Order: sequence, then structure tokens, then C-alpha cells
Amino acid sequence: MADGSRLICASADLEDGGTGVRFDIDWFGEPATAFVIRFRGQVRAFLNRCAHVPVELDWQEGAFFDADQRFLICATHGAMYEPLTGACVLGPCKGRRLVPVPVEEVAGLVYVLPAG
Ligand code: FES
Repeated sequence: MADGSRLICASADLEDGGTGVRFDIDWFGEPATAFVIRFRGQVRAFLNRCAHVPVELDWQEGAFFDADQRFLICATHGAMYEPLTGACVLGPCKGRRLVPVPVEEVAGLVYVLPAG
């Protein structure tokens, strides 16, 4: 694991297409909230901030996926994002994207890496 990384959760906490784990992060000197999910076996993390209006995405803690477990969805106005890239594919911010947060999965644990 990289220097300065911080443990977020166990790999087993992230079911594919299931509930995500929220965490606080220092994002270039500003406190922010982020989340990590698993999709198609891969772990991804993003700032918990819609690309449309800067509100958090989850309507209930950790509920980031749509009903089909295919896209991440913003609870406020329904923007849908590709889980692996954060690209908005539908909704008021189509063409924009979520801000990725660097994470890595090592030996059954998920870590956030220092930003910047
Ligand atoms: S605030 Fe997220 S879609 Fe509008």
C-alpha cells in the first residue's frame, strides 16, 4: 500500500453493485465526503458530490446504485453515472463526471490514497 494511505473498509464490505461506504477526506485542504463502491469486481471511489449541483448523491446512507445496480444515481434530480468512470450518462449534468478519488484494494482491505 502507498505511503499516507488510510484504511476505509474491508473488501468484503463492498458487495458488487451494492451499498457503498462513505468516508471523510481532506480534498486538497478542504474537508469533503467521498464514497467507495464495487462494480464488476473493481473498486472505485468518488467525491460524494453531484456534477449538477454540489449535493450528496445517496438518498439513504450508502445507497448509490440505481434499482438495476447498473448506474450510480443522484437522489436529488436523478443523474446517472457510469460506476467505473463516473461519467454522467443521463440527467441534467450529462457529459460531466464525478470527481474520482484514488483508492486501492490490498489483501482484503480498501484504502484511500493521498490526493494530489
Ligand atoms: S443535484 Fe444531482 S442530478 Fe441534480
